[in-house]
Amino acid sequence: MADPRPLRRRDRRGRSFLKPLDERVTVVTGAASGVGRGIAEVFALEGARVAVADLDLAAAEALAVELGGSGGEALAVGVDVADSASVEATAAAVLDRWGRIDILAANAGIYPAAEIPEIDDEFLDRVLAINVKGTVHSVRACLPPMRERGYGRIVLTSSITGPLVGAAGYGVYGSTKAAMLGLMRSFALEVAGEGITVNAIMPGNVRTPGFEQLSDEWKRELLGVIPMRRLAEPADAGWAARFLASEEAGYITGQTIVIDGGQVLPEGLA
Ligand SMILES: NC(=O)c1ccc[n+]([C@@H]2O[C@H](COP(=O)([O-])OP(=O)(O)OC[C@H]3O[C@@H](n4cnc5c(N)ncnc54)[C@H](O)[C@@H]3O)[C@@H](O)[C@H]2O)c1
Repeated sequence: MADPRPLRRRDRRGRSFLKPLDERVTVVTGAASGVGRGIAEVFALEGARVAVADLDLAAAEALAVELGGSGGEALAVGVDVADSASVEATAAAVLDRWGRIDILAANAGIYPAAEIPEIDDEFLDRVLAINVKGTVHSVRACLPPMRERGYGRIVLTSSITGPLVGAAGYGVYGSTKAAMLGLMRSFALEVAGEGITVNAIMPGNVRTPGFEQLSDEWKRELLGVIPMRRLAEPADAGWAARFLASEEAGYITGQTIVIDGGQVLPEGLA
């Protein structure tokens, strides 16, 4: 049967574009900083109503005010994704405000380093609780309203670290980013018949506030292995998420987009 939707939408000058996100309610976890902030800013620019959900409520509130100031509609919510009750309360607050959840960017994550002898149980539990359990909590809490409306876009923030490359000290972190892709594939199958997609972005090295604090030598070394000779901006990750969250990407599920300036491409050091 032919799909009744027009193949392309055009503006008055005949240019085609993705359908704006005007009607879409988006929950972004870890939205107050870095990649999550990039996602929240792009989605607000594209017209979405954005729930800025973060452990740091003050920073979330500041961003919500900023997004509101530039014409968007935003709601700040304090959340600890490691705590399922807190995530449920976040989904409830968003439903209370806007009555729906269309898009989830499950982005909150931490990346502390520890080599094998330093990996104690507390470290292990903390990274897994935020990065893996936090992803499950977020998807589980936001799914029911998507199911109710038969529409949803779930975008997980994984990484190249773990699924594609390794780095000394980042074994546990990398395992959580690979685990997210395991969750993604099975979750995608569970909801495939319900108008809901589950995909992931895999950023390389992003210019977040933390990067600015690295030594000049380390920064130079890092830029030396990125063919595009620059880090990703948070918005580079945001636009990839925006595509996966579009109505037009509705036939893509269980897939990933790498945003790394070509970092994983070279066969050798040259
Ligand atoms: N920065 C990079 O180069 C890079 C590369 C690949 C993937 N990522 C991924 O991007 C995501 C964000 O990383 P970032 O670099 O933007 O980090 P960031 O530290 O700049 O921001 C993370 C945000 O998450 C919040 N947060 C931390 N723990 C939380 C919790 N338990 N519940 C809710 N919010 C919490 C923090 O308050 C902060 O605002 C992570 O999942 C990370 O794995 C980052």
